[in-house]
Amino acid sequence: MTSKASAGKEALPAGIDRILIPAPRIAGRVEELGRQISEDYAGRDLLLIGVLKGSVVFLADLVRRITIPCSIDFISLSSYSGTTSSGVVQLLLDLQKNPEGRDLLLVEDVVDTGLTLSYLFQNLKTRRPKTLEVCAFLDKPSRRKTAVKPKYVGFQIPNEFVVGYGLDFNERYRNLPHVGVYKEPS
Ligand code: IMP
Repeated sequence: MTSKASAGKEALPAGIDRILIPAPRIAGRVEELGRQISEDYAGRDLLLIGVLKGSVVFLADLVRRITIPCSIDFISLSSYSGTTSSGVVQLLLDLQKNPEGRDLLLVEDVVDTGLTLSYLFQNLKTRRPKTLEVCAFLDKPSRRKTAVKPKYVGFQIPNEFVVGYGLDFNERYRNLPHVGVYKEPS
């Protein structure tokens, strides 16, 4: 990735307008979430379900901050192409094991309209988990079209298209350690 340096600004990767959440703030918040989840799920059968691919970086950090026994599985849905949602969601990869009777925590990168989460909720409910909750790294409440509400949220953000820390634009920028606002190169 190439960098641009402008007067008074730190060098940012091309396509990044500004940093919204710096890496140290993310680390602090993930630690808090891990502590909270460890308390809330103590003595239960916690299964973290990462929604591919955007949640991978968040999940990897979060699980290392969880101090109680837990397991991980993954699910994959069709996602955005570019910066706009088609609103159509399809299951591309299913869980490896039956989650019936377990305490499921869906780990999402960002809840935007909520359409993806609604689909996942309905789908997973039919498999009779003991409990089903959501932990979203980012939340854009102003864009919501459904009633879904994550139990845990890393950061609430304004209605901007963001990348980094697992989030992509056309499969790029997932490797950035911070969350940045994406800007189409002019
Ligand atoms: P929703 O169904 O509208 O809530 O969209 C959820 C999915 O859209 C997320 O899991 C992301 O994959 C993608 N998405 C939504 N907003 C952004 C963004 O700002 N950057 C990158 N991906 C996004």
